[in-house]
Amino acid sequence: MTDDSFQRTDDRFRNLSSVRDSPDPDFGFDAPFDRTGTGSSKWARADAPGVIPMGLADMDLPGPPAVAEALERRARHRAYGYTVCDPASRVLVADWYRTRHGAAVDPDWVLLLPCGPRTALRVLLEAVRTRAPVLFPTPDWGGFAQLCRAAGLPYRELPLRPGPDGYRLPTGPLPRPTGAVLLSNPHNPSGTVWPTDSLRTLAASAAESGALLVSDEVHGDLTHPGSAHPVAVTTADPAHRPLVVTLNSVGKTFNCSGIPSSFALVPDPGLRARFTEALAGYGLWEGGLLEQTVQRAALREGGPWLDALLTHLAGARTRLTDRLGPAVLSSPRASYLLWLDAVALGLPPADARRALLARCGLEASDGAEFGPGGRGSLRLNYALPGPVLAAVLERLERL
Ligand SMILES: Cc1ncc(COP(=O)(O)O)c(C=O)c1O
Repeated sequence: MTDDSFQRTDDRFRNLSSVRDSPDPDFGFDAPFDRTGTGSSKWARADAPGVIPMGLADMDLPGPPAVAEALERRARHRAYGYTVCDPASRVLVADWYRTRHGAAVDPDWVLLLPCGPRTALRVLLEAVRTRAPVLFPTPDWGGFAQLCRAAGLPYRELPLRPGPDGYRLPTGPLPRPTGAVLLSNPHNPSGTVWPTDSLRTLAASAAESGALLVSDEVHGDLTHPGSAHPVAVTTADPAHRPLVVTLNSVGKTFNCSGIPSSFALVPDPGLRARFTEALAGYGLWEGGLLEQTVQRAALREGGPWLDALLTHLAGARTRLTDRLGPAVLSSPRASYLLWLDAVALGLPPADARRALLARCGLEASDGAEFGPGGRGSLRLNYALPGPVLAAVLERLERL
């Protein structure tokens, strides 16, 4: 065999293996993606020509083709009447957890909800029937405080302590009385993946106070390659499991939050029954037409798309964290969120969002939206097509 023919053989094998192993077929993440005329809230918020919106948490990336095809197929049948819940969809959720997270979820725990996670959480808290304060960290997703205020529930915010790699969950006993503990897992705003043992400890502390731990895992399926997402209901000690709920949705993962849906893993049958009853009081029954069409297609066929997305997001994260260095607070390992210290960026902490907009034409979320622990910070959403990410990196040079 000559050197030349050896080279050709080698190339042939390299091509074959790249076809077989490639996690990244072309889903269009590196092409411009125009959302004009779609009523996108994120773009409406940006509100000025030339601004790149990096605030609201949805993606400027095309979702899985399988979801679009399923919607088209279903739309062609022109009866959109009441629908029932298909029990096979609970099994589909359990299979998803087994294959993506190695978590053993009992299909009986699964509730398939025709409302977004925000509404589901609000109704769940109603079903818990507590008057004791609801506890959650700060910074954390602003929806926790908002929905407690709206429901007239007292709440307390626990400041997250920074460790060498970023925020740490509380480890000691929780204040008593506590009715429920809410946690975004992974953490919104910082993209931190909570260590398994810290989550287990928090579940134990909550159970010792008689409080329900609600783990809001809507960013969990977006955990980047190399990190593992701890699913709260299967991470908690089985003795504490009846006081743990995992809440999830395909909305963030598959970029379809405009079609409200969520699913809850509720191991305790009593709580499941109370939750179902409270939902029915709002006309929310399991198995809605549109959301089940989307959810089934996403979970059944969306895996390869999600793998490619995670590769894209992890690449974008590395480029941005390399560029922004010490301004990046906590260690982002999930989702598409960067949590930044305004002072380290050279921005005035009290007015950082406006200053970033004026200097760089980048719209961010103001850290104060994430509670008192978020003051002086900014959250940037980097779920962007390749060319837009390149423009963002260029604009950041103006800081
Ligand atoms: C942690 C977390 N929970 C819940 C939600 C609410 O999702 P939705 O508004 O789709 O109900 C969000 C949205 O940003 C979120 O980040």
